[in-house]
Amino acid sequence: MDLKKYDKDGNLLNLTKAYDRNDKATGSNYYEWYKNDPTQYEPTADDLKCELQLNLLGDFEALSLRPDVKKFKEEVKTTEFVPYLRREGVSNDREGILLVGLEGDKPTDSLSRPEAMKRAGRVLKETDFNTPTSAYSHFESLHPILDYWSGLGRTMIVKTNKGGWFPPHRDSPLLTRDTFRVICFLGNSDTNSYEWWLGDSRRIIIPNTTYYVDTTKVHRTHSWMNNSYHLILNVPKTWENVIKLTSILENP
Ligand SMILES: [Fe+2]
Repeated sequence: MDLKKYDKDGNLLNLTKAYDRNDKATGSNYYEWYKNDPTQYEPTADDLKCELQLNLLGDFEALSLRPDVKKFKEEVKTTEFVPYLRREGVSNDREGILLVGLEGDKPTDSLSRPEAMKRAGRVLKETDFNTPTSAYSHFESLHPILDYWSGLGRTMIVKTNKGGWFPPHRDSPLLTRDTFRVICFLGNSDTNSYEWWLGDSRRIIIPNTTYYVDTTKVHRTHSWMNNSYHLILNVPKTWENVIKLTSILENP
């Protein structure tokens, strides 16, 4: 079976084209688009204030929010995962489920931003995803992490299997990004089973620990085992949420 075209159960994959720097919705040819409309990259006073405060933190900061691990292991048993952003010509065993999506989204609707834009037919920011799906209620074990923030953007559980990976990328390099990332490595995911590289250094992952990660910096990941679960939150970049973040640093 060609794993570049089918998932491991033999279902035909909904493939997405390779990354294109010139794609207006998902690319990064900012200067080209800046020339047409300079205002779209102009940071607000709030952008500057929030980013300066975030920059005072480390780029991989443990937080005091904890999941209910025993409950999570039960809840995940009955959960159906769907393929996550499968690109043309690439084999990559990673899946996911949507916890906060677009209005009317099911947990099994495609959850990556490029795929969601394809199905919605419009450009989407992380904060356009603001509606909890039924999976949000199902995962009570994660509510201590999810309910803490004042609103959430696109939020999901990503499940990587043996050989699953994310290539080197930045979630956004711009001061005008609308969210910051908070990640919890769930179940048995630890440094031996899952590698997280930020810049040129590999980070230590403590299972069931939640981290603020500065994903404006280049990061890449690899999974060495099946069923490695990661809760990924896009937290709206408001001053209130930035102050909330500084209040839960594991090392105050
Ligand atoms: Fe990322």
